[in-house]
Amino acid sequence: MKETQHKHLWWQEGIIYQIYPRSFQDSDNDGIGDLPGIIQRLDYLQSLGITAIWLSPIFPSPMADFGYDISDYCGIHPLFGSMEDFDELLREVHERGMKLILDLVPNHTSSEHPWFLESKSSRTSPKRDWYIWKDAQPDGSAPNNWLAMFGGSAWEWDEETQQYYYHAFLKEQPDLNWRNPEVQEAMLNVMRFWLDKGVDGFRVDVMWHMIKDSQFRDNPVNPNYREHQATYERLIPAYSTDQPEVHDIVRSMRQVLDAYDERMMIGEIYLPIDKLMTYYGTDSKEAHLPFNFLLLSIDWDAGKLASEINQYEGALPAGGWPNWVLGNHDQPRITSRVGQSQARVAAMLLLTLRGTPTIYYGDEIGMRDVPIPPDEVQDPQGLNMPGLNLSRDPQRTPMQWNAGENAGFSTERPWLRLPDFYKRQNVEAQQEDEFGMLTLYSKLIRLRQQEPALHVGEYKPVVTKSPLLGYLRVSGDTRFLVLLNLSHKPCYFTPDHFTFEGTIALNTIPEREGTSVKDQVYLSGDEGMVIRLKNS
Ligand code: NOJ
Ligand code: MG
Repeated sequence: MKETQHKHLWWQEGIIYQIYPRSFQDSDNDGIGDLPGIIQRLDYLQSLGITAIWLSPIFPSPMADFGYDISDYCGIHPLFGSMEDFDELLREVHERGMKLILDLVPNHTSSEHPWFLESKSSRTSPKRDWYIWKDAQPDGSAPNNWLAMFGGSAWEWDEETQQYYYHAFLKEQPDLNWRNPEVQEAMLNVMRFWLDKGVDGFRVDVMWHMIKDSQFRDNPVNPNYREHQATYERLIPAYSTDQPEVHDIVRSMRQVLDAYDERMMIGEIYLPIDKLMTYYGTDSKEAHLPFNFLLLSIDWDAGKLASEINQYEGALPAGGWPNWVLGNHDQPRITSRVGQSQARVAAMLLLTLRGTPTIYYGDEIGMRDVPIPPDEVQDPQGLNMPGLNLSRDPQRTPMQWNAGENAGFSTERPWLRLPDFYKRQNVEAQQEDEFGMLTLYSKLIRLRQQEPALHVGEYKPVVTKSPLLGYLRVSGDTRFLVLLNLSHKPCYFTPDHFTFEGTIALNTIPEREGTSVKDQVYLSGDEGMVIRLKNS
């Protein structure tokens, strides 16, 4: 893809870091991370080279889904601190030249939100239509067959008013009715509230869920469903998600942002590439970055990766900026999917592809999913579907800062346990280790930020044989060749169609940095390298 000539914006050039606030740093020793804790760690993020921070929800919430069930969109949960703490956090982030992105959860509220309490109070409530209420079928059953993401039917019966309400997630997370103009205005005002404070953007939760079929037709049965999958997968959510009218909503959210200076919106969207692209909007007037989750579920195979990356690059609309993600609070960590040694190669991939990378907290020190004993499971997805191994607790454990008590996260017992080996796997230990994951991340980030070829340059695929993945990043006369061995076995790169010469600028095996290479390269298992090419 061509390098565009115009000025690039912060969210195109920069690197986003996702903080799961419960698990980053506790400051008041209740075993739960909080905003003052995050402030204490801003210098660390700045020195790592992070340019924008996305915070998972910090708002008042009964915590049925750990903050994704909001009871007040314009407040701060006391567990995390006060509005003064938030203002200070925003100031401190900005003082360091970084940006702050909040999580916006517009699809559903908490069942304890005053809007829902009002809506539920009677069939004639002025807010009745703010949520999705339907009569039972003649036999008393739910209005249709739609399923909840966290197990069971998506419809909950309300005894008092004798109707069902719809919830795509927990019954404690009723879906708002986005066809109602009052709902639209209320949520756009929530955006304005935070934008007026100076927040730089939003990550919008389950954007593709926001509008449902107007006729509420049954979803078709998924013929590929297998018993080990979540019950939600039994149906294809053809009518409950990704409806054409959602684009009008995303557009109106974008218009709110565009009334401010350089604010941005990332959409959480789990859809195939062609569908995902529609969320940029036909004229790029929808989401700035529809999250690209390709790397979260792909088989770790060079051929498949190359074809998906190329397909994604090729499908981007004109003016659509790419982005890449290796992990988040809903997915197993990259180390637990591909192993510790390949996670180094994955880091190199994330930080050398074209497009904004989002780093999940702790991935920079190679944190792994922590096994949580059954009686300590807290995630509703794990609790509601026991036996399917779907709990998200393992990837949400406290950040491992040092070898001290509770890894420096808290002086009290953390809300989720730490791994037994945190004393040797933590930030402090890795700051001393030139061969550690943290050093690799910080070198990759530094090189990426120094080199326009890497942060805004063109991406050009290079034909390689499996297990090797290769591509070029180019800006003006500067060219980098990235070669990644996706296997544990050695392999050769001996291209038929071009000659090259250069120096290894970065390598997962640091001893090889500075070495000259010419026309062919021999790679160890799990080796990845960024070669600065000589101009011929
Ligand atoms: C997506 C969020 O990332 C996830 O953590 C949450 O459970 C659901 N949306 C519901 O809000
Ligand atoms: Mg705390």
